Formats: sequence, structure tokens, C-alpha cells
Amino acid sequence: MPQKPLPSILPAASAAPRHVAIIMDGNGRWAEARGLPRGEGHRRGVEALRRTVGAAGELGIAILTIFSFSAENWSRPQAEIRDLMGLLRLFIRNDLADLHRNNVRVMVIGERDDLAPDIRALVEEAEELTKGNTGLTVIVAFNYGSRQEIARAARALAVEVHAGRLEPKAITADQLGARLDTAALPDPDLIIRTSGEQRLSNFLLWQGAYSELVFVPIYWPDFDRAALEAAIDEYHRRERRFGGLVAHTGS
Ligand code: IPE
Ligand code: IPE
Ligand code: MG
Repeated sequence: MPQKPLPSILPAASAAPRHVAIIMDGNGRWAEARGLPRGEGHRRGVEALRRTVGAAGELGIAILTIFSFSAENWSRPQAEIRDLMGLLRLFIRNDLADLHRNNVRVMVIGERDDLAPDIRALVEEAEELTKGNTGLTVIVAFNYGSRQEIARAARALAVEVHAGRLEPKAITADQLGARLDTAALPDPDLIIRTSGEQRLSNFLLWQGAYSELVFVPIYWPDFDRAALEAAIDEYHRRERRFGGLVAHTGS
């Protein structure tokens, strides 16, 4: 008897997680392993980012958050910071039109006040141009630190209490969450870190309370669709319980 064809619609358990966040790490080591300057690793990292944004859209991920520059990365040598800022400028100038054409919405989280005025303007332009798009949402964590973000949210609550608009006893986790940069967004289902390091480095500490963490041994410039799919497969093998007893299949 001929075999029945496989169903063309994938079962819900293998659907993509709604929100995937990535700590794009290992650009420098990728370059050093090849005798190249670290800046070359960052340039190849931008190519990996392009591939990953494309793959995320194709795989049906709704939100992709990427850690591109931490609040602590300012402690790197000036030349490297210049390289990284240059790449961000280039990325927005070269890729924004493509992202917009592909219906991608771009949002940026992190502290904006101390960014160079031209970078701030580019960030605002990217958000403004794409704000009506309904496809993949890409959240760029830039000059981002989770502790700083939580402190800012706490300060916002304190200002409201001081002004008499909020009772201290009305402060809840939801109230604080609503004052984070990610206020309107669901928490990440999956956080991926490349390069083999197994830490969060001040990324989405609040939002990642129940995220599944997947650590990938490859350096960021080598990341591609297959690596993303493998991390999502690993995510589907996890059992999410959120403190309860009933497993939730991630979707
Ligand atoms: C990630 O790669 C990019 C940024 C942190 C900006 P790294 O620059 O951290 O590369 P490694 O970890 O030194 O290899
Ligand atoms: C985290 O990577 C920040 C980004 C990927 C942008 P780092 O390379 O800065 O983290 P540590 O210093 O190894 O913890
Ligand atoms: Mg690193």
C-alpha cells in the first residue's frame, strides 16, 4: 500500500517560539582564530545578523531581540567602539530600506541619552519608518543593560509616588514591568547565546525569568539558519513549567 503523505501543516509543538532573543557573542574570537583584526569579526557578525533576521522571518518567529552593544561595552578600547558604532551606522543606512520592504518593524531598547546625536537620529528614523510594519519585529538592544533598565523603571515609579499619582503599596511586578523598555512586548521564550559563554551579561534579567536558555558553541559570525533551527529544536525538547506542575509546550 502506498504510504500516506505527511501532513503539510506542522503540529503546534514544532511551531516557532514567539519571541527569540540572541546574545550575539564571539566576533572577536572568530577573528583572532583566523589571525584577523577583531573589527573583521564584527563585520562578519553583521552578515550573520542579516542571515538570522531573514531566517527568523521565514521560520515564523514574531519577535527577534538581538544584543548588539551592552552598557558595559563602553569599557572596550576606543578603536573597537568606533568600529562598532560605524557598523551600526552602516547597518541602518544600508539595511533599513530592505527591512522596511520586508515588512520588518525595528525597535531599539537601551539608554539613548548618551548616544551620539547622529546615531540617535538613525535609531529614531528606523523606528519611525517601520512602526506600521506587521511582519517580524526586530528589537535591537543597544547601549543596553538590564540592571540599568530596571533602575530606570524604579526611578519612574518613584517619580510617580513622589508626585502623589501612585501609592507605594500599588507597586507590583507588573507595574515595574510596564516601565521597562520592553513594556509592550511579551517575555522572550528562548534566549540563545553563541560563542560557548554561559552567562547573561546583563541581558533581559527581568524579562528572562522563565526563558529557556540555549548556549551554542559556535562564534556569532558562523551563526546561520541551521544553527537557529537547532536551537529551536532544543527549545522544543524543554518542558516549561513556570513554577507549576503542568508542562507547557513552548510555541
Ligand atoms: C560580540 O562579540 C559583539 C559585541 C559584544 C559588541 P565580542 O566582541 O564580544 O567577541 P568576543 O567575545 O571577544 O570573542
Ligand atoms: C555581551 O557580550 C554583549 C553583547 C553580545 C552585545 P560581551 O562579550 O560583552 O560579554 P562578556 O563581557 O563576555 O560577559
Ligand atoms: Mg564577547
